[in-house]
Formats: sequence, C-alpha cells, structure tokens
Amino acid sequence: FAFTPANLEWAKGQMTKYPEGRQASAIIPLLFRAQEQEGWLTKPAIEYVADLLGMAYIRALEVATFYFMFQLQPVGSVAHIQICGTTSCLICGAEELIRVCKEKIAPQPHMLSADGRFSWEEVECLGACANAPMAQIGKDYYEDLNAETLAALIDRFSAGEVPRPGPQAGRFSSEPAGGAT
Ligand code: FES
Repeated sequence: FAFTPANLEWAKGQMTKYPEGRQASAIIPLLFRAQEQEGWLTKPAIEYVADLLGMAYIRALEVATFYFMFQLQPVGSVAHIQICGTTSCLICGAEELIRVCKEKIAPQPHMLSADGRFSWEEVECLGACANAPMAQIGKDYYEDLNAETLAALIDRFSAGEVPRPGPQAGRFSSEPAGGAT
C-alpha cells in the first residue's frame, strides 16, 4: 500500500499541523484517508500510515480497532450499513433493522452480500438517540427508521440512488413548515 501522490501531499499537510515530534497526532485522518483510498483498512495500509508517522504498527492498530469508522475487513462496494444497537435504538426497534440486514444483505455482520455490494454490522450509540432507531450508511445518518424504510433505503442504494440522509419519517428540522422553499 502507498498513498496516491495527491493523498500523500494531503497527508503531509495534515502532519504539519502538529508540533515537531508529534506527527502521530495525525493518525486518525491519515487512517481514514487510507481507508477511503482502499475501501477498507488493510494491514499494509495501517503499516504504511504507522511508518509515515514514525510510530509502531501496534499503536496504529490500537487506534484502528477502537473506532467503528475504521473497517478492518472488506465492506460492500455500494454501502456498508452500521445499525445502532444501543439502548434508545434497541428499545425503538433496532432488532427489526438487523433482521432486515440479515434478510437482504447477509446472515452475519461483516459478511459481504452474495454480489459483494452490501455489508452491515451493529455498532454502539452514534449520538442520534433522539431519532432512534437509526443507522449510518457510508458517512451519512439515516434516522427514524423502521423495517420498511430501511428495506426501501437498501433498494434505492442498490438502484444507484443516494437517498436523502436524516430522519426518514418526514421530520426535517432544517426546513420551514410546509417543506423546502
Ligand atoms: Fe442509537 Fe444513541 S442509542 S444513536
């Protein structure tokens, strides 16, 4: 693994944000960029980032394994769906969302769908508890879900659409009453 020239230039810019000798502080953005480049975070990519930052591989791996945003195995080429399974979402129906993922994607978390286009996992609270249950798909939050709306979202992603993120029950707080103008 190696960063593309553009990503390497960007990474060096990130590293200069920190005082001399503290370049390891740039670990999270660099790991994330490596993941974006590869689709998931491979061991060679983690080693490469660790070398770039002058830190031990095990230290970089500690960070990579701590956060749900890092995927240490291949994910669906169209979408990786992270279902929040913590208290608010669990009470409001997360198990139904997981059932949909098992039926439409794969029976186990982190398994690729038969066509390799989707994957899913259960994660801890993503901080959108007020609109439980919810899921993160790619970088976006999809909230106020139920089995039907999640199944519809998966179908729309499968058809090449990028559905509008946010509450899926018609509660878009950023819009004036009556809808967007
Ligand atoms: Fe699901 Fe917080 S409990 S977002």
